[in-house]
Amino acid sequence: MLYRKPVTGGVRRIMQTIHECKHRCPMNAIELARSLPKAELHIHIEGSLEPELIFALAERNGVPLPYADVETLRAAYAFTDLQSFLDIYYAGASVLLQEADFYDMAWAYFKRAQADHVVHAELFFDPQTHTARGVSMATVIQGLSRACADAQTRLGISASLILCFLRHLSEEDAMATLEAALPYREHFIGVGLDSSEVGHPPSKFSRVFARCRELGLRLVAHAGEEGPPAYIWEALNDLQVERIDHGVRCLEDPALVAELARRRVPLTVCPLSNLKLCVVNDLKQHPMKRLLDSGLCATVNSDDPAYFGGYMNANFTQTVQALNLSADDVIALARNSFEASFVSEPRRAELMAALDRAVAAA
Ligand code: ADE
Ligand code: ZN
Repeated sequence: MLYRKPVTGGVRRIMQTIHECKHRCPMNAIELARSLPKAELHIHIEGSLEPELIFALAERNGVPLPYADVETLRAAYAFTDLQSFLDIYYAGASVLLQEADFYDMAWAYFKRAQADHVVHAELFFDPQTHTARGVSMATVIQGLSRACADAQTRLGISASLILCFLRHLSEEDAMATLEAALPYREHFIGVGLDSSEVGHPPSKFSRVFARCRELGLRLVAHAGEEGPPAYIWEALNDLQVERIDHGVRCLEDPALVAELARRRVPLTVCPLSNLKLCVVNDLKQHPMKRLLDSGLCATVNSDDPAYFGGYMNANFTQTVQALNLSADDVIALARNSFEASFVSEPRRAELMAALDRAVAAA
């Protein structure tokens, strides 16, 4: 892109032109964010249930809803904090009863992901939300797993599942959930920890995570979304997780930032979620730029896109715009998403090569 410097005056009035690196132009950074291949590592698949699909599944399954229509439901999406969101999110998930419901939900997500150039996705799911209503573990996992297989064959998106324990429930409940899921071990790659954070520190789940580690499962946990930096330390030291979900409050503890940077522990950050749940008041105050500038492996993700106003590219482009991120920042974020993913090394090399080609062509 050519920029003209202001005319400097004088007789000569030489029009100087400078050739700016096209990757420094804010317009290009947004376009680049939209077009680059990327991985999504923090998406609760139940949080991708759009109001239209909630109503369609409610009708299919004869589940009564406390909302008159799609518009009334959407109007209720005005959250003040994490808990105010979770109450509605768990109510929305009550329409999921059959294997086909889980498949349809995940398939709808994959089609949107493809439109945003997501080429790899690791999906969180909350089995306890469903088994507590009498839905079997088989129904949940088989429906989701079939959609992941189809994402690979029909859309070229590699995908895997991460089983999350609900932290507002007991560790015994989490352990029983793990045992119930083990017959389907080949269908999920790891475990995570989600739901109401404050008052439910990671250390509450030390034993179940130790068991998961023995089983060779990959480990992640939500920490430092609403909870303090101490929860991030616990997730790292007690649970020995490989990634921190959210983690934005790490910036309150310089020693923690240094440790995360030294160990290159990725943070799966969700900007629109942070805005909708009032973790930040304005996207312009979002810590993403500070996380990157601190040398952290931060990534962009959508968390619960049906509830928070957008999927991967909405998160990416709005963050780039609000924080005036450079093209180099955008490329780093896309690269971080592949670095942080739990793919095989050959697949990682393939994804990195696709990113390099896309950058070269931009
Ligand atoms: N479950 C779904 N979305 C969540 C979030 N942002 N934090 C904790 N638990 C969740
Ligand atoms: Zn989350």
